[in-house]
Amino acid sequence: MKYIIAIFLLVFSQIINGQANNSPDFLAKPYLQLGKRSSPQSLQLLWHAPISNDVWLAEYKNNGETEWKRATDQKFSTIAVGKIAPFSVYSTSFTSLKPGTTFQYRVSKNGKVIFSSEAESLKSPGQPYRIAISGDMGAGSNTAKKIAYEIFKTKPDMLAIAGDIVYNRGLASEYTTKFWPVYNKDDADTLGAPLMRSIPFVASVGNHDASTRDLNTYPDALAYYHFWEQPLNGPNGKEGGAFVPALVGSDANKKAFYDGAGDKYPNMTNFSFDQGNAHWTVIDSNPYVDWNVSTLRDWVAKDLVAAANATWRFVLYHHPCFNSSRAHYEQQQMRLIAPILEKGKVDIVFAGHVHNYQRTYPMTFVPDNQGSQLVAGANNTKTGKVVNGRWTLDKNFDGKRKTKLNGVIYITTGAGGQGLYNPEQTKDKDSWQKFTVNFESRVHSFTVMDVNGNTLVLRQLDINGKEVDRIKITK
Ligand SMILES: [Fe+2]
Repeated sequence: MKYIIAIFLLVFSQIINGQANNSPDFLAKPYLQLGKRSSPQSLQLLWHAPISNDVWLAEYKNNGETEWKRATDQKFSTIAVGKIAPFSVYSTSFTSLKPGTTFQYRVSKNGKVIFSSEAESLKSPGQPYRIAISGDMGAGSNTAKKIAYEIFKTKPDMLAIAGDIVYNRGLASEYTTKFWPVYNKDDADTLGAPLMRSIPFVASVGNHDASTRDLNTYPDALAYYHFWEQPLNGPNGKEGGAFVPALVGSDANKKAFYDGAGDKYPNMTNFSFDQGNAHWTVIDSNPYVDWNVSTLRDWVAKDLVAAANATWRFVLYHHPCFNSSRAHYEQQQMRLIAPILEKGKVDIVFAGHVHNYQRTYPMTFVPDNQGSQLVAGANNTKTGKVVNGRWTLDKNFDGKRKTKLNGVIYITTGAGGQGLYNPEQTKDKDSWQKFTVNFESRVHSFTVMDVNGNTLVLRQLDINGKEVDRIKITK
């Protein structure tokens, strides 16, 4: 009899806890984002959970504080796309963080704390900081997982992803297998690390994130808009306009996508934010963007003018325009705005797409036929455009003793997890374009940048943590 009662109590308690139907608390554990309006005092916390009437609460406290503060403005969107069981993406704001310190937060469900973590707030302009940058990450490969672990070991304050966040089509179902388990793993080892819960991630969209727009064939495409929450301070795009292609699909599939994406679609692909003493401009570099229409071009120019007081200006986009790899060499469309970035005094442009590491000299570029029209060359394809022109290289800069820039350095850091491109070119300097000063394609790698006032040290670390490049830049 005692035995029967014990079984009854066990089953009853499982039903009460919602475990009898194996329903998990989280479909994606809490992760940090910049939020729609980034400020040094704020970060956004998101998590995914099955649809329910559960009462959720997130609380936080800055290091040294004893009282928990309630996160504000909690809301959720329902993602009901494709064959995935509908679920909720919760989002809530931490708005009173102390810049440049750690903070604790916890998430409770129905009054019981079920998740807690420590995290880094954004920096104020006077503080040093470390940023990791890598592209082409979410392949779910063993190399991608090991790179996540190596990034974690460097203890960055933020991770910037230079596009191709998740392979192969940026689908919600692909995040489930290739992204959350790797970049928001409970513990750190060679299979991943608890990065997303402890530092904010920021991302530009790559071709694998943004070019699948047939919602009949892939109803859970464009999951970037469902899962990321980044600033909405870019230009107003319009679906079918100059920089947002039209969606394809039934009205029902489009509605399901719009309902999940909310106001993040379509503008969230071009935006800017500040971290420490740096301003970051994030741009959609996909070849569907028509740079002849001035809206986006003018926004980039104005955004950089507004950031004139920042010590450093960085740009993040996916398609590298000064690339020596034979792979994707013709995809040069971002050369069209090189003069705008130079005028805006950008220091470094970070890109991915090409799965290796490359660094250029500091350089300037004048595209041919530059006038009222930005004219791409004859090789104008769906994947990219040749843009010929004239470059000027600052060969005086050596990154060691001569550390002041005359021009923009272009970094390609696309070796974050996918198969490497053109390893045979690493030792074949004759195959490099004249603007390239370092090229490493034999090993997966990522970028770590330490900024301290007017001094910046950029290192490229390989999958074993070994340094493959290092430069210092000073103002
Ligand atoms: Fe790509």
